[in-house]
Amino acid sequence: MRTTKDWQAADAAHFLHPFTDFKALARKGSRVITRADNIYLWDSDGKKLLDAMSGLWCVNVGYGQQALVDAATTQMKELPFYNAFFQTATPPAIELAEVLAEITPPQFEHVFFSVSGSEGNDTVVRMVRRYWDLLGQPERHVFISRKNAYHGSTMAGASLGGMSGMHAQGGLPIPGIVHIEQPYWFENAPAGMSRDEFGLVAAGWLEAKILELGAHKVAAFIGEPIQGAGGVIIPPATYWPEIQRICDKHGILLVNDEVITGFGRTGQWFGCETVGSRPDLITFAKGVTSGYIPLGGVMVGERVARVLIDKGGEFNHGYTYSGHPVACAVALANIKLIRELGLVERVREDVGPYLAKVFAQLQEHPLVGEAQTCGLMGALLLVKDKPAGADRGTPFAPEREIGMVCRGHCFSNGLIMRAVGDRMIIAPPLIITRTQIDEMMGLIRRCLDLTLADMRAV
Ligand SMILES: Cc1ncc(COP(=O)(O)O)c(C=O)c1O
Repeated sequence: MRTTKDWQAADAAHFLHPFTDFKALARKGSRVITRADNIYLWDSDGKKLLDAMSGLWCVNVGYGQQALVDAATTQMKELPFYNAFFQTATPPAIELAEVLAEITPPQFEHVFFSVSGSEGNDTVVRMVRRYWDLLGQPERHVFISRKNAYHGSTMAGASLGGMSGMHAQGGLPIPGIVHIEQPYWFENAPAGMSRDEFGLVAAGWLEAKILELGAHKVAAFIGEPIQGAGGVIIPPATYWPEIQRICDKHGILLVNDEVITGFGRTGQWFGCETVGSRPDLITFAKGVTSGYIPLGGVMVGERVARVLIDKGGEFNHGYTYSGHPVACAVALANIKLIRELGLVERVREDVGPYLAKVFAQLQEHPLVGEAQTCGLMGALLLVKDKPAGADRGTPFAPEREIGMVCRGHCFSNGLIMRAVGDRMIIAPPLIITRTQIDEMMGLIRRCLDLTLADMRAV
């Protein structure tokens, strides 16, 4: 049996981790996760952790679901692989396409499969540009996205994303992708402006950019209904309906990246239904298989699908594993389980509202400037002080690394929360119970108290 030290030595010697300072990790040693059940993980020292992040926003049905294991095993025995190129198909891929058309909003009848969310967004770029080419408008090739958006790590995904740290490496963004400011009230709204007013102002930045570029050059606007990796930025309720109005007015396509918000996370099957947009394309991944096996894709609305099908000829794009039969079989079992357990309704009517209620109570904590949730995603903004009468608190200096300090306490106390700057975020599995939410909230309070003590000690 290898010890934690053995694992860490081998890891440091050979494994370059994603989004990681390789040298720093080799020095510290990685945390090795060896086992999971329900909403809990265990590391190689046997320490139990409550996983308030569903892995990486993906394990929607929780760990240890036998139905998904059985689906993979059965499919692997029957047909472990065949591709969907050259006019072939496999039953799980066809059935999954059918089911996805059923659970997505009515404008969606077709799907293109990828393996990850990043590849899904690469597909979006190629497909949308192809659509406008076929309509005789090849100059409509620019994508408008937002700063602090996350759309993946491939060249197109990272370019669509608005992460400055990513753009600083490797000559990004690629041409034809531009960014507007995000709808983050705390940072971007002028003092005294209400959230609803700000939602309209932030949507107006899209229209200003369209007019600056010329609408005839704009292919599409892409956005996560709720920015996940950017820090669970929940836009004001006025934002998405106004974005939709602007896209309609200028005839540009709307793409919602639902890699995080899909499959029940916000209390509807898809986040667009929660925020009130009517996208032409949806990118999905993660929750489609609850992360048990990689699968992603793009739902293609009829406006685009009809052009690609009726006028398109061959679309020169695809992945070896587009529609992988084992991944599709697991996705089918996962969606069946979400339906059987009524998880979407549970998030909407039971655990989502309960989380909203108990999370809001954290607003009284001296460190918490803002506590917001939508369905089962939530964020706490940690602030230095909350002056009476001001509509928002004062941020900590970035060098205090308040988020990292708090995250350290979370790990030590058996809780996995993610830190994005000074925002502490959660997205627990959709099977979480009220009792488990209470357990999670107890841990969060303890970690906030420990963080506050640290901050006061310096
Ligand atoms: C909104 C969004 N889009 C795309 C991606 C990229 O997905 P993947 O890591 O599967 O390529 C992510 C990953 O976190 C995401 O959150």
